[in-house]
Amino acid sequence: MFSAGQPRCGAYERSMRILSDIREKIREKYAEAIRNKNSCCGSGSSCCGGAEDPITRGNYDGAVMDRIPKGVVSQSFGCGSPVEMAGLNEGETVLDLGSGAGLDAFLAGGEVEPTGKVFGLDMTDEMIATAEANRIKWGLQNVEFLKGFIEDIPLPDGSVDVVVSNCVINLSPDKEAVFREIYRVLKPGGRISVSDVVFLRPIPEEIRTSIDAWAGCVAGALGRDEYAEKLEKTGFCDVKVSPTRVYEFTSSQLEEMVPNLPGAGSLDASGVAAGAWISARKPLAV
Ligand SMILES: C[S@@+](CC[C@H](N)C(=O)[O-])C[C@H]1O[C@@H](n2cnc3c(N)ncnc32)[C@H](O)[C@@H]1O
Repeated sequence: MFSAGQPRCGAYERSMRILSDIREKIREKYAEAIRNKNSCCGSGSSCCGGAEDPITRGNYDGAVMDRIPKGVVSQSFGCGSPVEMAGLNEGETVLDLGSGAGLDAFLAGGEVEPTGKVFGLDMTDEMIATAEANRIKWGLQNVEFLKGFIEDIPLPDGSVDVVVSNCVINLSPDKEAVFREIYRVLKPGGRISVSDVVFLRPIPEEIRTSIDAWAGCVAGALGRDEYAEKLEKTGFCDVKVSPTRVYEFTSSQLEEMVPNLPGAGSLDASGVAAGAWISARKPLAV
């Protein structure tokens, strides 16, 4: 005879194992991607990353280029420019979820200085090490990188004015936990400015369930409306999910994203996914 706790415990352990397997796959993928970039001889290939990548290409064109330490743009795996959209003010405390090599954290650091502070959070040692090396090289004093999970943010309640994130939340298998944690660490009235991949129409189940595609930052993405609903359910207000670039994938990009699926290159993926800017606010009175 099972006690009331046993079946739930099994399901919990299974879901923890899945979470940890997906995280490990993602960690391996981004550790390798940044090693390739740092060694200057890798292809930089992965769904998010590389000069000709449909997701990363051209995100930082224009005036913002003058404010970015040289070399860091080529280490970017983002899908937008959330700091440019955040309207940061001097003195604010900013948290960058999945800060990678640090580009957005550095941009934010420049906008909130001299009294503001930026935390970059990432789970991958190689990313943290690269970001820290960049920080030291460029002498940035008000940026600090933390190792940890976006589902379990190592900062106190109500300690952050703005959460930014660039192409990371789609990778999390537990987005409710991410949204809960963002809500927790934000001050009342705090806001989010997130660039992320969203689906504009359903995708084949084979892609959704492929861990390789997940790590390549497509399979884990939410639908546009689903994204807004989850944020509203968490308690956020003024939620907007605005597509900024609709993606077209070539056959070879599809084959690379879903290597275990025969015929992946001929899937109809046109207009399925887009880069989007997501903004929302934690109510003042909660
Ligand atoms: C697509 S890259 C984006 C990096 C950076 N935001 C940029 O724009 O270049 C995803 C990053 O998120 C990190 N990451 C993915 N899932 C994470 C999680 N659950 N917790 C913490 N970091 C995570 C990865 O290690 C990687 O550095």
